[in-house]
Amino acid sequence: MPSFRPDITALTPYEVGRPIADVARELGFDVGSVIKLASNESPEGPFPGVIEAAAEAMKRANRYPNPDCWDLGHRLAAELGVDFDNLLFGAGSVALLAEIAQSVGGPGTRAVYGWPSFVMYRFVSVWAMTEHVEVPLDDDFELDLDAIAAAVDDDTRVVYLCNPNNPTGTIKGPVEIEGFVDSIPDSVLVAVDEAYHDYVTDERYQTAIPLALRRPNVVVLRTFSKIYSLAAQRIGYAVGQQETLSLIRRAQAPLTVNQVAQAAALASLGQRDEVRRRRETNAAARRYLEAVFAERGLPSPRSHANFVAFEMPGADSGELAAAFLRRGVIMRPLSKGWMRVTVSSEEENRRFAEVLDEVLAQIRR
Ligand SMILES: Cc1ncc(COP(=O)(O)O)c(C=O)c1O
Repeated sequence: MPSFRPDITALTPYEVGRPIADVARELGFDVGSVIKLASNESPEGPFPGVIEAAAEAMKRANRYPNPDCWDLGHRLAAELGVDFDNLLFGAGSVALLAEIAQSVGGPGTRAVYGWPSFVMYRFVSVWAMTEHVEVPLDDDFELDLDAIAAAVDDDTRVVYLCNPNNPTGTIKGPVEIEGFVDSIPDSVLVAVDEAYHDYVTDERYQTAIPLALRRPNVVVLRTFSKIYSLAAQRIGYAVGQQETLSLIRRAQAPLTVNQVAQAAALASLGQRDEVRRRRETNAAARRYLEAVFAERGLPSPRSHANFVAFEMPGADSGELAAAFLRRGVIMRPLSKGWMRVTVSSEEENRRFAEVLDEVLAQIRR
C-alpha cells in the first residue's frame, strides 16, 4: 500500500448527491420514480440551442480545446461589462476554488469562512495543506462578517464568502461585503462565491464583480452549473483583476475546460429572457416550499437561492435522509435535524411535500 498523507486519509469523501440510477438500482425502484433534490441542480435541461452547439463542438473532439476559452471569454466579457483578461475559466467553480487554495495557501497558512457553508471550502483547504477556520453563522443564519474579520490573522491567506450562502440561502449586500474587505489586510484574498447569483430577486443583493475589478484581493466565482443547467459539463469562471487571475492560473492544469463545455456555455449566453423566466419560476417554487415548512411549523431561513434549509427539531439528519431515500427522494442531510432541499419542478416539489408529511408522521409517532 502506498503511503498517503494523513490529512488526506482522514478526509471523509465529499458526499455529492447520489445519482438517481444508483439509488433506483439499490432500492429496486423504477428510475422514473426516484427524485433527486440533493445537489441544487436545475430541474430543466440546457438553454435553447445549447445541445446543438455542444454536438457541433464534438466534431472537433480530436483537437485540444482552446486554452483561453477565447470565444466564450470575449462574449461573456461583453455581457458582464468587463475585459477578457478579467476572466479565468475553470472546470467548474470547485476547480477554481482548489486552484485559489493552492495558489495562496500551504503549510503554516489559514483559510477562514462561515459555517455552515459550502463544504468544499474545507476540502480545498486540506488539499492545499492550509488550516481551516470555520466561523459560525449569526442567529439569522447569515454570514457573520464581523466574526469572520475577527478570525483573520497574520497567517490568513484566503477568506471564502458564499453569497447567497449554501446551505442557508441567506444573502449579504454590497455595502457589507465592501466593508468587510476594507476591514481586513489586502494581503488576504477574498473569494466571493456567487454560484447562486442568478436566482436572487431581492434588491438588497448585488454582485461583488465591481469590487473585484477595483481590488486586487477580491475575486468573484460564478458557475454554469446552476441556472444554466450545465452541471455535467463542469464549467465556471472567476472575475477579478488580470494580475490576480494570472497568478491563480499558475496553479491550474492546462486545457482544463473542454471544448464541448466552452461551446455549451457560449450558446447559453445572451438569453436574458430565459434566465429571467427560470429565476421567476424558481422564486415561485421556493415560495411554495417556504409555505410548506411554515404550515408544518418547521423552522426555515428565508432563502434567496434554488434550495431551502429546514429543521425537523429533535430528529437525526442522517436518519431523516435515509427515511426520504426509502421513499425515493434523495435529500441532503445537514446536521442536528437540519436538511436541505433543492427547489425543483412543481410536480417534484409536491411529491417532496407528500413525502415530508410521511416522514413527519413517522418521527412523531
Ligand atoms: C456555493 C457553491 N459554489 C460552487 C458550487 C459548485 O459549482 P461547480 O459545479 O461550478 O463546481 C456549488 C455547487 O453546489 C456551490 O453550492
